[in-house]
Amino acid sequence: MTEASPEPTRERGKTVHGEAANAGHRVLAPDDAEVEAYLEVALDAPPPARGAPLEAEQVRDTVIVLDFGSQTAQLIARRIRELNVYSELLPYDTPWEEIQRRRPKALILSGGPMSVYEEGSPHPDPRLWQDPGAPMLGICYGLQLMAHHLGGDVVPATKREYGPAMVSITTDDSLFRGIGREQPVWMSHGDSIVQPPPGFQPLARTDSTLFAGLADTDRRLYGIQFHPEVVHTPAGRDILRNFVLDIAGARPTWTPASFVEATVADIRATVGGGKVICALSGGVDSAVAATLVHRAVGDQLTCIYVDHGLMRKRESELLRETFAQNLGMNLVMVDARDRFLRRLMEVVDPEQKRRIIGDEFIRVFEEEAAALGQIDFLTQGTLYPDVIESTAPETKAAQKIKTHHNVGGLPDDLRFRLIEPLRYLFKDEVRQVGLELDLPEQMVFRQPFPGPGLAIRIIGAVTAERLDTLREADWIVLDEIKAAGLYRSLWQSFAILTPVRSVGVMGDGRTYANVVAVRAVTSEDGMTADWAKLPYEVLGRISSRIVNEVPGVNRVVYDVSSKPPATIEWE
Ligand code: XMP
Repeated sequence: MTEASPEPTRERGKTVHGEAANAGHRVLAPDDAEVEAYLEVALDAPPPARGAPLEAEQVRDTVIVLDFGSQTAQLIARRIRELNVYSELLPYDTPWEEIQRRRPKALILSGGPMSVYEEGSPHPDPRLWQDPGAPMLGICYGLQLMAHHLGGDVVPATKREYGPAMVSITTDDSLFRGIGREQPVWMSHGDSIVQPPPGFQPLARTDSTLFAGLADTDRRLYGIQFHPEVVHTPAGRDILRNFVLDIAGARPTWTPASFVEATVADIRATVGGGKVICALSGGVDSAVAATLVHRAVGDQLTCIYVDHGLMRKRESELLRETFAQNLGMNLVMVDARDRFLRRLMEVVDPEQKRRIIGDEFIRVFEEEAAALGQIDFLTQGTLYPDVIESTAPETKAAQKIKTHHNVGGLPDDLRFRLIEPLRYLFKDEVRQVGLELDLPEQMVFRQPFPGPGLAIRIIGAVTAERLDTLREADWIVLDEIKAAGLYRSLWQSFAILTPVRSVGVMGDGRTYANVVAVRAVTSEDGMTADWAKLPYEVLGRISSRIVNEVPGVNRVVYDVSSKPPATIEWE
């Protein structure tokens, strides 16, 4: 993680925290990133201390995953949550008291890139080795650590093995119950265990190690040399299920419904009679966060939606329909379209566009928030991946807030306490909660959309006319993608209005009109992306509809570039 950028405004390719966008395993939520940017300015309080457990946390069963640096550590927590058991990822050096305070039903030590002998290699609080008080599973590096600290013989690796392997399961232990004897797995081999610690029995082996699985069932300590959390280990889910549900006896009570119930109760208790504001962006995170707060405190919540005129067709209407009409929320819709257009006039540089939009956003929000009078709380759609990333000291958070303060020049009397109802959820869980709250699927499964909106999809200067052209073309792209049942399988799909004009014919006449580009990509997290192999028929329909239905466009091209080297957006 890099330090917060000294630049007072957001930089291309960086998150609002000044980190590289989508760096490492971070899953960026670009749809809400811009809103988050300006909410940062209003943030006086440090993020809620991680030490303060919610009421709900005290009753649900928790599996703690200690993160030793594996790229898939977060995935372990997600897999466990898919078993409907709450799981938290904590830094490897979390003090024993902190771990105990969460009363874990089980502990998992993640993999990691280092050798246990390497200088500076991560080791947990040594009290963990005395008696973890709950079943413990070591994965890869986690297993090496266990073997090393509990009296086994581990030799440092000369070469690291990483990749597919076949494992032979030799004991019908509960960890491998109901699983075929020969299993494809994703192996990760740094150090080698040559002698297990006293009390441990081998459970599985591969061609390269006799100890691909180990257990001391009396002490409820387990270890596997491969990654159960990745798709390349098909039996991985069963192994985790055996460990979490059977061995540890955790109750599968972590469901969208139980989350909603507990969270609504928590918010109600926190807010009391106070007033709350929430900025809606049109993205799923702010929508779900606002709906939870609304369910908890009703009219004490006011939502602000800044319509900057850079949204897709019908998005603002959907927002009004959902929140004001259906849910009956207090919704302030600010028509700031002219203000944004005026400031964007003749601006062609993408970074300049971003700066202007971010800055204007802050101004509008300040004005509206100030007009509401006394506000006690601000709701923000921070997700768990952001929380994990910012386990960094509070000073960093403070630094980040300060930077943004300089941008906004926020009045001193604008001070809120923060409510972050999604700070324990992964993105896919937010969607599940959204469905549980009956939010429209269109909103819940919306593809990521950049904060600066259509302004960075009009190459060159943004005008009202060009926005209309792009909005119509973009609508057709989405309409056809949805009709073909492809929307959810794509990370993003959209139109770009290029600055190119080309010659065409229409009837007997010659035209000289705009070229629209179509972009559709598949991706896991936006960090890398493949251009989508859309069926020719779909591309054909998109093209003929755009040139026939959108005035001023006579040619459509499809972008066949992947990221890297191309980015997803054109600007
Ligand atoms: P690129 O174009 O860098 O985009 O491959 C990666 C992801 O980030 C989104 N994106 C943005 N999101 N503000 C945002 O909130 C921005 O300025 C911005 N620029 C790109 C993009 O849509 C993609 O999902």
